[in-house]
Amino acid sequence: MKYVKKFFLLLLMILTVSGCGVGSQDKKSAEPAEVKAPVATQSADKKILVLYFSRTGEEYNVGNITKGNTAIVAEYIAKKTGADTFEIKPAKPYPDAYEPCTEIAKQELESNARPAFASNIDSLAQYDTIFIGFPIWWGAVPRVVMTFLEANDFNGKTIVPFCTHGGSGLAGTEREIADACPNAKVLSGLAIVGKSAQKDFPAVQKDVDAWLTQLGY
Ligand SMILES: Cc1cc2nc3c(=O)[nH]c(=O)nc-3n(C[C@H](O)[C@H](O)[C@H](O)COP(=O)(O)O)c2cc1C
Repeated sequence: MKYVKKFFLLLLMILTVSGCGVGSQDKKSAEPAEVKAPVATQSADKKILVLYFSRTGEEYNVGNITKGNTAIVAEYIAKKTGADTFEIKPAKPYPDAYEPCTEIAKQELESNARPAFASNIDSLAQYDTIFIGFPIWWGAVPRVVMTFLEANDFNGKTIVPFCTHGGSGLAGTEREIADACPNAKVLSGLAIVGKSAQKDFPAVQKDVDAWLTQLGY
């Protein structure tokens, strides 16, 4: 726990020094994969999916949560865009306790593991635009999300990443997603401070609304 605390303290210091805001939306990645482009809203021939991974239990800065931070943001995006949702669930659930979970996630990242997911989506083919949401884990996309991305065909899709985090922002995850889905068009993502989803939902709504408007929704 000491190590994790130190990590976030260091992160906070870097953010403070660099003058980043502390609102619900944090900085975007320095290297957005694509310039934002308007995309169509859900219609019969153009379907939208919000695909996400999120964890409940003891979480950084918010105590014990029964709905994950990313899940809250994902559901709101789906409501605003009329999208379908699909939750990526790990075959082996992560511990509810925060510290053991961080240890497992760290080992998975260090070994670049591909932990199995519980079940796959029936048909990805029907969707043109896919929002992909996840918590930042050790400055990266959780490995189980990478397993899911690599197991499915995202060729020709427009991918719109979003994350929740404790201070890191998107942390280069747009690039990770673009690398995992080389024939997809990956747009600039949205980063939401995780605790805002639990404690300041109106601020999250405001940031998501502004982002969706920019995207043409
Ligand atoms: C295993 C683990 C690693 C994390 N690593 C980071 C990190 O590197 N940077 C960061 O800003 N937040 C980190 N966090 C905090 C989460 O990104 C943040 O609380 C997020 O909103 C959790 O979303 P969820 O409730 O949807 O799982 C980490 C949390 C966990 C559980």
